[in-house]
Amino acid sequence: MIKISPRLKHLSEYIDDNSNMVDIGCDHGLLDIYLLQNKKNIKIIASDVNKNALNNAKNNIKKYKLEDKITTILSNGLDNIDTTNIDTIVIAGMGSHTIVGILYNNLKKLKNINKLVIQSNNDLDFLRYKVTKIGYYIAREELVKDAGIIYTIIEFKKGHHLYTKKQLYFGPYLLKENSPLFQEKCKLELKKLEQFYPLIPKNHYHHKLKTYWKIKVLKSILTKY
Ligand SMILES: C[S@@+](CC[C@H](N)C(=O)[O-])C[C@H]1O[C@@H](n2cnc3c(N)ncnc32)[C@H](O)[C@@H]1O
Repeated sequence: MIKISPRLKHLSEYIDDNSNMVDIGCDHGLLDIYLLQNKKNIKIIASDVNKNALNNAKNNIKKYKLEDKITTILSNGLDNIDTTNIDTIVIAGMGSHTIVGILYNNLKKLKNINKLVIQSNNDLDFLRYKVTKIGYYIAREELVKDAGIIYTIIEFKKGHHLYTKKQLYFGPYLLKENSPLFQEKCKLELKKLEQFYPLIPKNHYHHKLKTYWKIKVLKSILTKY
């Protein structure tokens, strides 16, 4: 049985038995190997834009004798992926702008995709805003601490829901739950933004205003700061 990090293990919990999924940016392919070993009747395409990364995945897949069970495809996002029979897409370990680019570059290929499992660590408000604009709602969210880093996992499902600016910034479920890990994440974010705010040039009015709003709202939800 393959050993994977707590972050990947939590990600794996978002994939149902009987899924037909593609892992975009699979890199080493560890998540996909773990899923095949632990889920029932699952079909996987492991894909990456980088040839070396995909070769690493291929070698690992071979090591676990799963060559006939995982299809590997070299692809920039969804460009070379036929999504006709795919129901789930996983994109993890990338920035939100790359992730949004991958989805928006192939909007037509999302027609049959009921579930997006996404783990990004920056600009989550941008990610939530852009993904909920293309016919997905936030179904589940989770924070995972792994090797001292707090990761956010978001499951989007096909459908519509309106969110407030605050919900898009913090995540509707994370905000509601207000867990100790959420407070820790907010504290870190506040510290970062307070250091960054004075460095934003005065004429970057929109950016300055947005950051000021974030600082204000972070302070309002932090129990101690
Ligand atoms: C940090 S690794 C994350 C690997 C794995 N998903 C994880 O979460 O552990 C990011 C991977 O995404 C790949 N990647 C980046 N942009 C991509 C794109 N546009 N299409 C496909 N893969 C991409 C990189 O080559 C790299 O292997």
